[in-house]
Amino acid sequence: MKVLIVEDEKIKRITLTDALLKQGYAVLAMENPIEALNIFKEREFDVVITDIRLPHMDGLDFLKEIKTLKPETTAIVMTAYATIDTAIKAMKLGAYDYITKPFSSEELLLILERLKDFRRLVEENIKLKQEITERYSFGNIIGKSKKMRDVYELIKTVAPSDATTLIIGESGTGKELIANAIHYNSPRKDNPLIKFSCSALAETLLESELFGHEKGAFTGAVKERKGRFELANNGSIFLDDIDDIPLSMQTKLLRVLQEKEIERVGGTKTIKIDIRIICATKVDLLKLAKQGKFREDLYYRLNIVPIKLPPLRDRKEDIPLLVEYLLNKYSSKGEKKTFCPEAMKLLINYDWPGNVRELENVVERVVTLTRSNDIRVEDLPDFLMTSPEKLCDRHLIDVMTEAVSFEAAIKDMEKRLLILAIEKAGGNKSEAARILKMKRETLRDKVEKYGILELSQTMKVKS
Ligand SMILES: Nc1ncnc2c1ncn2[C@@H]1O[C@H](COP(=O)(O)OP(=O)(O)OP(=O)(O)O)[C@@H](O)[C@H]1O
Ligand SMILES: [Mg+2]
Repeated sequence: MKVLIVEDEKIKRITLTDALLKQGYAVLAMENPIEALNIFKEREFDVVITDIRLPHMDGLDFLKEIKTLKPETTAIVMTAYATIDTAIKAMKLGAYDYITKPFSSEELLLILERLKDFRRLVEENIKLKQEITERYSFGNIIGKSKKMRDVYELIKTVAPSDATTLIIGESGTGKELIANAIHYNSPRKDNPLIKFSCSALAETLLESELFGHEKGAFTGAVKERKGRFELANNGSIFLDDIDDIPLSMQTKLLRVLQEKEIERVGGTKTIKIDIRIICATKVDLLKLAKQGKFREDLYYRLNIVPIKLPPLRDRKEDIPLLVEYLLNKYSSKGEKKTFCPEAMKLLINYDWPGNVRELENVVERVVTLTRSNDIRVEDLPDFLMTSPEKLCDRHLIDVMTEAVSFEAAIKDMEKRLLILAIEKAGGNKSEAARILKMKRETLRDKVEKYGILELSQTMKVKS
């Protein structure tokens, strides 16, 4: 970062400059604000640190000039304790922070460090927004993880064909979204996409819904009616929850797949249809087939091109991207809400059994209920609070209710800390010792004492 310091006291100017240079900042220090302003116009600085009481020009006026010339510049003001309300004026003029005199160089360095984090976050946020609109989506399917990029590739490959496609994924992983993407990227896109859930209806109704019926086919069939297959002619049909389809219907579906023809209920006429079939399931169809609950031949017919959707917990790197997308989706016009880094961490840590749908519900709810633009940890629903701190507290409470001694509890915590550090270090003990700021030998002794290594190895094998 390039820093411009404006300070008329020579000693202060020199000590600050030295301290900043030592930390790798590029520094230019000036005594006169008017000269500083001339240089500021010609050169680029990330941060300007200025005294308030200066010769030739008031520090606040200097600040105003800077913010008018280049509003993106970060300004920090140095002010004497007696003039704290000047500091507040400075903040209102757009200063990032102020520091009261006397202060040590370390205090200023701390502010600059915090500033670096802040800028990094801002930059990441901007990058994220570009990524969403640029690369990391397929239509309105969001995700940049390898797993999702593989899904996009698969969609691109199968969409143009008529291949039967089976979409497999837990609830809320986006199966319907994928079905849409396949149809609307296929040559059939101008013809209908008919959606049908196989779990919604009793067997007899199911058949007439799918295949249609002739007039008088059964009581209540007062008119002939086209079924979903016929309605989907020249387009696609999306059969959701295909595992729920009864065995008798499976046989009929197999015929549709093989012969591309149907008969309406109560009819004798064979009707040729030209459809593309997309199915979805939450369960393992092959397992059902092995149990005799699903026709194995049908399974192989459907499973020609399987698309497996990963659960959200297996692609956590997509969570910030999805959150950004959902924030835009649920914010009203002109409003810009963001999750603070701690709140985002909780969203990333949670396991999301309801996958993207659950995340979507949470974001919608929080955006609606939070007034401030800054969404904080307190604004999130309680079930997300699995922060390590909370878990640790919970563990301590467990310890106390089990009435163990103080000493035993501390030992227990010590053991847990060691395991966590070793895991975090990927099994590397020197690194684990470094994390805990502990001598390698001390760590080794403790590990031996608690017999930890075996434990962390079994954990690694499991995961
Ligand atoms: N990758 C994604 N990007 C953006 N939104 C997504 C993504 N995946 C799912 N969603 C959203 O999550 C919600 C659930 O998606 P969808 O209905 O497609 O899931 P599903 O797998 O069909 O769930 P179910 O099995 O419960 O029917 C929808 O609002 C959808 O827009
Ligand atoms: Mg669905």
